[in-house]
Amino acid sequence: MKNFLSDKKYRIAASILDCNFLELNREIKKVMALGIDMLHLDVMDGSFVSNISIGQPVISRIRQHAGLKLDVHLMINNPDKHIDSFISAGADIISVHVETCPHLSWTLRHIKQCGAGAAVALNPATPVSSIENVLPYLDMVLIMTVNPGFGGQAFLEEMLPKIKKLKSMLEEYKKSSGGKRKILIQVDGGINPETAARVMAAGADIFVLGSALFNADDPGIVIRKINEILV
Ligand code: DX5
Ligand code: ZN
Repeated sequence: MKNFLSDKKYRIAASILDCNFLELNREIKKVMALGIDMLHLDVMDGSFVSNISIGQPVISRIRQHAGLKLDVHLMINNPDKHIDSFISAGADIISVHVETCPHLSWTLRHIKQCGAGAAVALNPATPVSSIENVLPYLDMVLIMTVNPGFGGQAFLEEMLPKIKKLKSMLEEYKKSSGGKRKILIQVDGGINPETAARVMAAGADIFVLGSALFNADDPGIVIRKINEILV
């Protein structure tokens, strides 16, 4: 994941889960025109989470039409079985849930060997200590700030101290690597201009916006507010 956040203080990822799927092309172009940094694509299997969403065929179509980084969030059991096909479909970054990976360091190494950015996602109840042994393989950590499965849920306040704890773990790791290894923190769930300020203060680098963007009358105003708050 070269130059992933090299020149920016923060990044905005648009989650299309709550967009109008009948107008997918138009919806994606609309948010791209607002200057977002990446598309966050939520893959759900109806097993790890109760919802079922999109898969490789939709992602490969998006890849053909959107010149943005594709950040693929796998909320599926047994992700090892599908990593190669999601990377072939066009994923630039893959997040696997720690709760679904019995051999996490192998999984993350495999993602990197295939040329994508490797990230791990943590459910709200999963402690940050669960990833302390896999930091060398990580480009990003995704902190779920709602329980995964649906857009439009309320931000969980108790995730703020968790983000702070992760931030200090990652700062320590960066120091021990002589400043070479900066692992980014992504937050996903209930992010809007109001919660974004607090998660940024806690240490987040990448902000996933779903319903706050796609359900807004004017998503341009939402992005403007976020930029005013975070800059
Ligand atoms: C939820 C997904 C999110 C979701 C966020 O499980 O991982 O990416 O789309 O939606 P909001 O921003 O509405 O919470
Ligand atoms: Zn997500």
